[in-house]
Amino acid sequence: MHMLMAQGGPIAGRALLSLLLAFVSGTLWASVAARTGPTHNKVVVCYISTWAVYRPGQGAYSIENFDPNLCTHAVYAFAGLDITQSAIKSLDPWQDLQEEYGKGGYERLTGLKRSHPHLKVSLAIGGWNEGSKNYSTLVANPQQRGHFVKQVTGFVRKYNFDGLDLDWEYPTQRGGSPQDRENFVALTKELREEFDNYGLLLTSAIGASKNVIDQAYDVPQIARYLDFLHIMCYDYHGSWDQKIGYNAPMTAAPVDPLSVQYSIDYLLKLGAPPAKLVLGLPFYGRTFKTVSQGNVDDASDGVGFRGPFTREDGFLGYNEICSILSNKTSGWSTTWDGATSQVVARSERNVFTQDVSVVTFDSSRSIANKVKFAIKKRLAGVMVWSVDTDDFLGKCEPDEDTYNDFRLVKTAPRRLNQNYPLLRTINEATSLALEELAADEVVVPDDSENEIPHGSIADRKNSAATLVSLGLMISSVFALLHSLQH
Ligand SMILES: *[C@@H]1O[C@H](CO)[C@@H](O)[C@H](O)[C@H]1NC(C)=O
Ligand SMILES: *[C@@H]1O[C@H](CO)[C@@H](O)[C@H](O)[C@H]1NC(C)=O
Repeated sequence: MHMLMAQGGPIAGRALLSLLLAFVSGTLWASVAARTGPTHNKVVVCYISTWAVYRPGQGAYSIENFDPNLCTHAVYAFAGLDITQSAIKSLDPWQDLQEEYGKGGYERLTGLKRSHPHLKVSLAIGGWNEGSKNYSTLVANPQQRGHFVKQVTGFVRKYNFDGLDLDWEYPTQRGGSPQDRENFVALTKELREEFDNYGLLLTSAIGASKNVIDQAYDVPQIARYLDFLHIMCYDYHGSWDQKIGYNAPMTAAPVDPLSVQYSIDYLLKLGAPPAKLVLGLPFYGRTFKTVSQGNVDDASDGVGFRGPFTREDGFLGYNEICSILSNKTSGWSTTWDGATSQVVARSERNVFTQDVSVVTFDSSRSIANKVKFAIKKRLAGVMVWSVDTDDFLGKCEPDEDTYNDFRLVKTAPRRLNQNYPLLRTINEATSLALEELAADEVVVPDDSENEIPHGSIADRKNSAATLVSLGLMISSVFALLHSLQH
């Protein structure tokens, strides 16, 4: 400041200062006025399984239950493939479309962009029930592929979607052919070329198991053409194993490729750019029935059990799980496993069947830890399957251990709303993990070990980070003033 006065005189200095203040407050005002959605710069991709509208009672989820402020991207799941026309089609015209007095789900979701300009909305094609065979047929034929690319572009634009999410589960698998691997690259390439004419997003759900990755995906090639790869880091274990296992373990034994960490590290090793990888998080658990104690690896019946809302064997939504666990007379107990960041919940033994019911799932703490992992790996962000099984009505008590594995927080941030505890955890944990990462990157001087510590190491690193960013701010103010003078 002193130098500035000497060069430009007090008048010029004051004028510059008020200019600067106007600039700073103007920017702040603009960002306050226009800002909707998460405040961090990572992606939060929210799948909505739109058939959730048919669930009974408080399990029913409609687009009006969606909270656009908690996600950067929404994905409408699913549309289907009409192989006879090489075309995308609605799987539920009454829910999806407005025609013939339909409920217009596509446009109700994309309409949220008017009040929430940050939000990007994609349409997903595929899903487990669509199988693989018809997709395999489509991509094998260049004419059919070309027709599909044009038609799907028109379809996506007609309903005001921002893009398409490919959910073919999976190329080369479940009735697909070995050629799917290269044909899938061709499909993504041709979609990319067409989508670039309209600024549309192209993403894909990607299987997380090593076997599927090896056979289905030419990772460097598809990563060239896709904006984001949504890695489905769940269903590692389930009732089909006929023994109890973790749905989405963070880690596994060294030789075991069935873990979140293995999937992500493997994709990075194969050449996926971290900035295009999106870590998938399950808002559900896998269920088991066993006559043993109910520990991991105990033999189980191969079917599991179902919940009152989702009504699918072997599957329980987080909202169904937290409802059981917050019932003090239900007799369930939980165990946290630190190595995998998973929770195992068990019922008391049923006196008639002698069974113990077990569910392995992601609690808020699991979600927070996986967000931290994604941030550390410098991924684009996280994806959730799916928002409709979060505790979207806020019926359960919030978890108290959510940030136990974070260094820079002692207590969880206060929330104005109790609903969507898992989605809120994602957004809080993203900001907290970014702060931790920034604190870690501050170079602590070597003689710091000789200082008398004031507060924890984390506190010192934190204040160092603040000082560094303050320093950056001051130096950029000087740079600005300097450039204004010339
Ligand atoms: C694949 O296409 C055929 C022919 O249109 C159709 O009958 C079949 O249901 C499709 N498969 C799936 C799993 O949707
Ligand atoms: C709580 O669990 C008990 C025992 O399973 C059950 O009878 C009761 O209906 C449950 N309460 C609620 C509110 O679900």
